[in-house]
Amino acid sequence: MAEVSAMAFRWTGDCLLLLDQRKLPHEEVWVACKTAEEVAEAIRSMVTRGAPLIGITAAFGVVLAAQQAKQKGSSIQTELEHASQVLLAARPTAVNLSWAVNRMMSVAREITDLSLDDFVARLEDEAIAIYREDCEANLCIGENGAALLPENCQVLTHCNTGALAVSDLGTALGVIKTAYRQGKVRFVWVDETRPFLQGSRLTAWELMKEGIPFKIIVDGAAAWVMRKGLVDAVIVGADRITRNGDVANKIGTYMLAVLAKNHGIPFYVAAPTSTIDISLPSGEHIPIEERDENEVLGWHGVRVAPENAHAFNPSFDVTPSELVTAIITEKGVASPPYQESIARLMQGE
Ligand code: MRU
Repeated sequence: MAEVSAMAFRWTGDCLLLLDQRKLPHEEVWVACKTAEEVAEAIRSMVTRGAPLIGITAAFGVVLAAQQAKQKGSSIQTELEHASQVLLAARPTAVNLSWAVNRMMSVAREITDLSLDDFVARLEDEAIAIYREDCEANLCIGENGAALLPENCQVLTHCNTGALAVSDLGTALGVIKTAYRQGKVRFVWVDETRPFLQGSRLTAWELMKEGIPFKIIVDGAAAWVMRKGLVDAVIVGADRITRNGDVANKIGTYMLAVLAKNHGIPFYVAAPTSTIDISLPSGEHIPIEERDENEVLGWHGVRVAPENAHAFNPSFDVTPSELVTAIITEKGVASPPYQESIARLMQGE
């Protein structure tokens, strides 16, 4: 049994501990998951979140299902098939979830001649490999993205794409951290990211830890700070990128891309290739999660909107590829036309 320790999760060998991101930044509470069902519920309820981290945690959920089957003496393949369905149903938009679960399941389906102990150990190795590959991907994304930014720049970001959303460092926030260490970024505008406030709660928390100067703005202030000439680049993450370069990301991202275009500001998307869904031709095919209207109608159980008012709460939107200046991955940077550049990237050319 191996152990892994990251900012947002810990794997102890038989338990997945998740930092409860609903309680940050004021409380650091860890939630213990011992079954795949508990991991799926933690993903669904957003104890844990962020596309790459959802994939990593789901991979460990598959390991927990194998361990449970071993303990119960039940059929491991049946338990794994069931667990994978439960995990896949947790959240619909981030493709990293199905990418990681399918990778784990294809390993499991190929095992024919191992003892039960070795079977479980093989799955644990695969989950740890998914985690380690994501760490390495983030380092490359950081370098590839920082190279695109001008000296002494101010950037604007949305949602949380840092170490809390991945294995380590981050994607868009990883680019910002890397560019800051290189002396290229001098200031970060952080969209608060209504309604879950991943920006004001989580990105702000990470930037404070790094000592990077920033200010939080309400999402509606982005146009104005751009208009005032205070933004040199917008950089965001992604939950799913289709093969034509359309990008699903946190609700409000599309609005930022339109604004960036209007103000002549580059709009960058940073994501590992595990976020690219080559099976989908365009963004209109991406399932967009709709969350509970109460996330919009109030905050922390306190009703803000009038009684009987209703809300529409899509958690993500799709930015058309024509608004995206470049897609930064660990394998390199894709530029328009994306159909060709993404295909080349995925083939490792
Ligand atoms: O609903 P969330 O918090 O899981 O949404 C997260 C995002 O939209 C991120 O931008 C995306 O997953 C990339 S995280 C590196």
